Amino acid sequence: EKNISIAVDGPAGAGKSTISKLLAKQLEFIYIDTGAMYRAITYKALKLGIDTQDETMYEFIDDTSITLTKDNRVLVDEHEVTEEIRSTEISNNVSIVSSIKTVREKLVSLQRNIAEKNHVVMDGRDIGTNVLPNADVKFYLNASVDVRAKRRYLENSKKGIESNFEQIKQDIIKRDYLDSTRELNPLRKADDAIEVDTSALSIDEVVNKLIVIIKRKV
Ligand code: C5P
Repeated sequence: EKNISIAVDGPAGAGKSTISKLLAKQLEFIYIDTGAMYRAITYKALKLGIDTQDETMYEFIDDTSITLTKDNRVLVDEHEVTEEIRSTEISNNVSIVSSIKTVREKLVSLQRNIAEKNHVVMDGRDIGTNVLPNADVKFYLNASVDVRAKRRYLENSKKGIESNFEQIKQDIIKRDYLDSTRELNPLRKADDAIEVDTSALSIDEVVNKLIVIIKRKV
């Protein structure tokens, strides 16, 4: 029997991971955070000190293992990096690393494998357009850049990290620009994705809205 897949794409800070995690819980599906995988590779690239722009420096990819545990922890080569991959340094380097062909090939194949074996809610940038073009339901979550920056800012304060709102906003704008203009599988709404603007909605409102749509479609 075919497994069900829900694709959730959108720009940085649109609420994809928060919403996808809750959807997966309600549906009893597995949640796959593909951004965490690109962040984990970025973590290793920076640890190795490679020139991240240089495509030929990525041979390490072949013997790198990336694991997402059921409780949403992230491991690189069996070493836990769940917290580390959320740093500003990783966020500011991940778009370069994720534009590298060998990196995308490895992670996309890993993502497809997981979706073949499980019912999944998968979030990212190219899930509906590239990773799972036949996903049962595709969402494109969006919100104004001010709302998205404000969410990141509040997330940081909650964790006790002091940050600068304007800086966060500029970093988000830059990352969206790089992600949507890169050559390989850029951030784009799939033609058959349902776009939801979350700017004025609470988390519960978004989850309920998406659940209604999913129940109607699968
Ligand atoms: O979702 P998150 O903001 O953690 O993603 C981090 C980065 O990983 C994105 O800015 C993008 O460069 C990359 N990414 C990607 N394709 C995906 C998911 C994330 O290129 N499917």
